[in-house]
Amino acid sequence: MLFIMSKNISLDDIASLAKRRGFIYQGSEIYGGLAGTWDYGPLGVTLKRNLVNAWWKFFVESRDDMYGIDSAILMNPKVWIASGHVAGFTDPLIEDVKTKKRYRLDHLLEDAGVDVKGMDLAAMVAAIQEKGVKSPDGNELGNPANFNMLFRTSIGAVEDEASTVYLRGETAQGMFTNFKNVVDSFYPDLPFGVAQVGKAFRNEISPRDFIFRVREFEIAEFEYFINPENWEAEFEKWRVAMHQWCEEILGLPAEKVHELEVSKEDRAHYSKRTIDFEFDFPFGKKELYGLAYRTDFDLNNHQRDSGKNLEYRPKDGSPAFVPHVIEPTFGVDRTLMAVLCNSYTEDEVNGEKRIFLKLPKHLAPVKACVSPLLKNKPELAAKAREVYSMLKKEIGVVMWDDNGNIGKRYRRQDEIGTPACIVIDFQTLEDGTVTVRDRDTAQQTRVSISELENTIA
Ligand code: GAP
Repeated sequence: MLFIMSKNISLDDIASLAKRRGFIYQGSEIYGGLAGTWDYGPLGVTLKRNLVNAWWKFFVESRDDMYGIDSAILMNPKVWIASGHVAGFTDPLIEDVKTKKRYRLDHLLEDAGVDVKGMDLAAMVAAIQEKGVKSPDGNELGNPANFNMLFRTSIGAVEDEASTVYLRGETAQGMFTNFKNVVDSFYPDLPFGVAQVGKAFRNEISPRDFIFRVREFEIAEFEYFINPENWEAEFEKWRVAMHQWCEEILGLPAEKVHELEVSKEDRAHYSKRTIDFEFDFPFGKKELYGLAYRTDFDLNNHQRDSGKNLEYRPKDGSPAFVPHVIEPTFGVDRTLMAVLCNSYTEDEVNGEKRIFLKLPKHLAPVKACVSPLLKNKPELAAKAREVYSMLKKEIGVVMWDDNGNIGKRYRRQDEIGTPACIVIDFQTLEDGTVTVRDRDTAQQTRVSISELENTIA
């Protein structure tokens, strides 16, 4: 008997399961952590890899108009001057005048119920005064400023202004700086895209909400180079594809994914139109992805600052021009978090509460678990090992578990979202069948070993 319980899931539920079951740990935990950093454990890294592979397959490999790259994290600092990040990649900051702790001004206002859409720094400071908002420690706030989020480091043996480089704040710039390389190597027809997945770094003023807002994270994104005449149709095409990705590949219900048309005042400096894709996280409706029309802002600036011609010469002999760009961008960590939040389920099986991750099966980090019914029966253990080795060869990520009783093993696998648990019992020795228990229904069926691979696939 199965009974699904409706409960408001908290971020603590998700974070505690993620830690308990080896998905995500606090970064540098044994030293008390490092704010805004998280480490992926054995199951988290597999889930993240499955997500990235699915993204690459959906947006890159399955298409003829997409070119993948993997550019260096450290880039010539002129890249970040041309892109506008050195001057304008900022968040509004304000200080607790007593403790000197610094906060994101817009977050403090949002927490106080103020809608900050369209507000600049001065308007936010005025709102703080008008509403009498204090710091979380109850003190007065002062010294507002725009804080640049690029992490600086230095390259080479001498540390001075000339050696300053930045950890990349977005992966996109690698696509712009390699635009000419890809055109020269492949001479693709327009429109075409250049994609990559990789780490980005932002010195967030107040990282929060588990892996939602962190200082080191992964972005999967592409720059889709177009003729500006077609920008609206191309924008629409990618808007639809992003929803398809959310629903068909990630299994996120359409009613939990919302679009927010970002106002001119709130758009990034390079964008002429932006839609944020928001997801209903346990802590509210928050940005999951972005879709931006970046025009020719980046290529033009790089052309100006590098002195290299970054025009595209159409094959039909019409005049060369600097292409415009549509940019769908996907935070990988936020994707993982949305998938975890959406999959986290509590129900009752035969009167007993259980937690399980209803992950889409193609994303589950472990596809099946194999156990002998009894650990101390050598004939069962030997047969189970045989089945385990066979499946491991055929479907890859299979787990062995002979600890505790069968019920406990099922619970452990439920919590990590393993779609199938296979148990070898005495009947197996007689007729070559095993029990396969389904994660979602908790139903068991008998399947012959020769049919096992098909059943799981
Ligand atoms: N190239 C465009 C770009 O970087 P963005 O909206 O600044 O756009 C892209 O970032 C995506 O990266 C966001 O939609 C979000 O999913 C994710 N993201 C941004 N900041 C993040 C942070 N501090 N922690 C985790 N993910 C973040």
